[in-house]
Amino acid sequence: MSGATFFPKPEISVTNPASAAAAMAAPNPSLFSGSRTLAGRLTDAFLAVRSETERRAEPLTPEDQMVQSMPDASPTKWHRAHTTWFWEQFLLGEHSPGYIPFHPDYAFLFNSYYVGVGPRHARAQRGHLTRPGAEEITAYRRHVDAAVVKFFHDTSDKMLAGLIPLIEAGLNHEQQHQELMLTDILHAFAQNPMAPAYDTLWTSPAPHAGSGWTRLIEGIHTIGHQGDNFHFDNEKPAHRVLVGPVKLARGLVTNADWLAFMDDGGYRTASLWLMDGFAAATGEAWEAPGYWRKTADGWQVMTLGGLRPIDANAPVCHVSYYEADAFARWSGKHLPTEMEWEVAARAEQLDDAFGMVWQWTRSAYSPYPGYRASQDVLGEYNGKFMVNQLVLRGSSLATPERHSRVSYRNFFYPHHRWQFTGLRLADYGA
Ligand SMILES: [Fe+2]
Repeated sequence: MSGATFFPKPEISVTNPASAAAAMAAPNPSLFSGSRTLAGRLTDAFLAVRSETERRAEPLTPEDQMVQSMPDASPTKWHRAHTTWFWEQFLLGEHSPGYIPFHPDYAFLFNSYYVGVGPRHARAQRGHLTRPGAEEITAYRRHVDAAVVKFFHDTSDKMLAGLIPLIEAGLNHEQQHQELMLTDILHAFAQNPMAPAYDTLWTSPAPHAGSGWTRLIEGIHTIGHQGDNFHFDNEKPAHRVLVGPVKLARGLVTNADWLAFMDDGGYRTASLWLMDGFAAATGEAWEAPGYWRKTADGWQVMTLGGLRPIDANAPVCHVSYYEADAFARWSGKHLPTEMEWEVAARAEQLDDAFGMVWQWTRSAYSPYPGYRASQDVLGEYNGKFMVNQLVLRGSSLATPERHSRVSYRNFFYPHHRWQFTGLRLADYGA
C-alpha cells in the first residue's frame, strides 16, 4: 500500500478546510470582539452564544421542543432551560449578591447531573414536563440574560478577570448543548413516519476527502492541550506518547464503503463483531447506519433536511463504535487511537478532520497521566465519566463555530449512534 511518510511536528495549528478549523487558530475566540472594555467583550461573547441557542430552537414548535424520544436525548426546551440554569447556578448564584432565581423549582428541574448542587429531576423524564412551557423558558432566558449582562457591567474588571474561566466554561457548555439540540431533535424526527425536516433548506457539508494514506513513523510526540486558551480539563495534562508506525486514512469512510460492507453481509457476520456489539446489532435489528430507511427507491437517510437519498460520496454517519469496529475488521484495518489521530491532525495530514462527523477512536475515555478533576462542583463536568466510554475526535456538522480543537476529546458509549458519528481507518501493515 502506498502512502507518503510524514514527520509530524508537535503543536502545529490545524488548518483544515472545515470552518471549525479556523476557530482553532484563535485562542478564546468567543471573547474577542470590538468592545474596548472587558465587560463589553464578555457581553458580546455571551449574547452571541445565547442567541445561537435560540437560533437553533427557532424552527421548532412548542410541541417539537417538548419531545424526548429516548432517555439519552433531551427536549429542546430542556436544553434551553438547562443552559440558562448553568449561568444562574454557577455565575449569578455564586457571584452576584442579591440575585433572586427566576423560579424556585427550576434548580431541581434543570440541573443535569451535578450531585454537588443538589437533587434533580430524573433524566429519562425530561419529556414529561408540559410545564413550564416554551414561552416561559423564553422568559427565563431573557431574565437571566439581562441579569448576566448587568452583572458584567456592575462588576470590576479585576473580579471579572478572575471569572473568565467560569464564563468561558459556561459559553462552551452552552455550545455543547447547541450540538445536542440538533442531534436530539433529529432522533425525534427520525421516529416520525412523516420524516419532518428541521430545515428544508439544510444541506450537508461537502466532503473534501482525499484518498490514500498518510504514514506516521515511530516516534515520541506531545498530545493534549498546551497553552492558556480555553480547554476542558480532560484535555490536560499534555504529555508525551509513543506512536507509530501506522498509516491513517486521509479521508473518512464513506456511504459507498458502508454499502459494500452491508452487501457483503457485514451486519450478519458474527466473526466481525465484538460480542457486545453483535448483541446490540441483533437486539436492535441493525442492518444499516442509524436513520437509514429502505424504500422503493433504495436506501434513504433521515437528515436535518428530512429524508434524503444516500449520497455515496458522503461520510457515513450515525454509526456506533460497535459498527465502526466491525467495519474496520471487515476492511482488514483498525480504528486509530486518539493519540495517532491527534498527532496526524496536528500535522495537517487528515482531510475532513473537523466539521463533518465525529470520528470514533479505539481509545478508552480515560484520564491523561496525572489528571485530577477539580474539587469544586464543576469538577463533575468531565472526570466522573471516565469509564466505559470511547473517545471520538474532530467535530461534526452540528458543532458550533469556534468550538473545535485538535486536543478536544468527545466521548460516548459504544452503542450510541444518535450523534453525528463516523470513522476513519488505521493500518498497521507494512
Ligand atoms: Fe449541561
